[in-house]
Parts: sequence; structure tokens; C-alpha cells
Amino acid sequence: MGKNIDDLIQKRRSIRVYKDIEVDDDILESLVSAASFAPSNSNRQGYYFTFIKNKAMILDLANLVEAMVDSKKEVLQKRHPYFFEYAKNFVHFRGAPVLMISYYTKPPSFSMQIFKEYGCQSIVSGDVFSIGLAIQNMLLKATDLGLGSCVMSGPLIAEDDIKLYLKTPSRYGLGPMVCFGYANEDLKRPRRKNFKKRFEIIDE
Ligand SMILES: Cc1cc2nc3c(=O)[nH]c(=O)nc-3n(C[C@H](O)[C@H](O)[C@H](O)COP(=O)(O)O)c2cc1C
Repeated sequence: MGKNIDDLIQKRRSIRVYKDIEVDDDILESLVSAASFAPSNSNRQGYYFTFIKNKAMILDLANLVEAMVDSKKEVLQKRHPYFFEYAKNFVHFRGAPVLMISYYTKPPSFSMQIFKEYGCQSIVSGDVFSIGLAIQNMLLKATDLGLGSCVMSGPLIAEDDIKLYLKTPSRYGLGPMVCFGYANEDLKRPRRKNFKKRFEIIDE
């Protein structure tokens, strides 16, 4: 039992090149079902997912992100020249069979409003944490079904344009995007830091 979950966790990789094979709708539905079992703040399940399979729309979105990156060229070229190489990772989804847009619902939770009112300005909305947990369930479920995936926050550089293009209702905030499809690459896992140096246990 334990071995299965370890295998699944270690097998998941961020896939950026996909085969041109359609992903069935019932598979996408099973990803959302897996997401629905994730913990969420006050059990709000305050998220919504749009799966885009329309190739023209996926291309339009990649073009919006690319245009936004290009518009920063003049300002950033000198100070952060590496940024443009890095930003290629914002648009690799143009070749993905499915692009998932994730939304978290607004207004923020009641407790979030109280936190803000009483001076806790830096706290991140529980809805944002929750969407991350829901997506992780999707990634593991996708891996189990033989499907590759990649979470992306890079495209959010064009958040406003994306919202406009998708006619996003104002009650939704944009979460990470995720592409799904059958992997057409077999990469080495990126190096992990030594986890033993990344935690402590306080006992007494
Ligand atoms: C919040 C978040 C945002 C990410 N944004 C991007 C992105 O914009 N583009 C991309 O190609 N990968 C993105 N990634 C994937 C990471 O690069 C990847 O998880 C990391 O390199 C580790 O590789 P692995 O997922 O294969 O283990 C993101 C991952 C997370 C968790």
C-alpha cells in the first residue's frame, strides 16, 4: 500500500513535450474528482477548473503570454538577460493537448477577512493554498493514469490579458495553469535538495 503512493509521488514529473493524442473527457473528470477529495479551507472547495482542448484557444493564450514577455524586453534585457531564456517555460503549453485554467473563488474566506481586519496583512488566502492541494491530487491521479502534466505560474505574467480573453467573471482569481497530455519526453528528474537538511522535529 505504502509502496504505491511512494511510487506515484516519485514517478510524477513536469512534462513539457506531449504526443499529439487527445485526452478523453472522462479522464479529465476523474482528475477533478481526485481534486475534490483534497483538504480545503473551511471545506469551501472554492475552486473551478476550465479544461481547454481547443487548439486555437491554447495558441491564442500562448501568444498572449509571449507578447507580454516580449513587451518587457526593453526594460529587462539589461538587468535580467537570463529572464528571456527562462520565460520559454511560460509558453511550452502551446503544444499540449489540454490546458487547464484554475480559478479560486472570491471573496476570500470569512477568516481571511477577519485576519486582514486585525492587522495580519501578509497572510496568503487559504483559497490559494487549497487550490495548490487540489491540483497536487490531480497531478498524482494523472500520473497514475499514465498522463503527463506540468503546473505553471509563469503564464500568469499575462494574468489580466488572460482573464479578459477568457471572460473570467470577477468572482474568480486566477490560479496556476496545468497542461495535461501523454508525455513525449523522458527526462531525468531535476536534482532534489537533501530533504534531511530541510526539516526539524521539536520534541521537548
Ligand atoms: C507553483 C509552480 C509554478 C511552476 N511554474 C512553471 C512554469 O511556469 N513553467 C514550467 O515549465 N514549469 C513550472 N513549474 C514546474 C517546476 O519547474 C518543476 O516542478 C520543478 O522544476 C521540479 O521538476 P519536477 O516537477 O519534474 O519534479 C512550476 C511548478 C510549481 C509548483
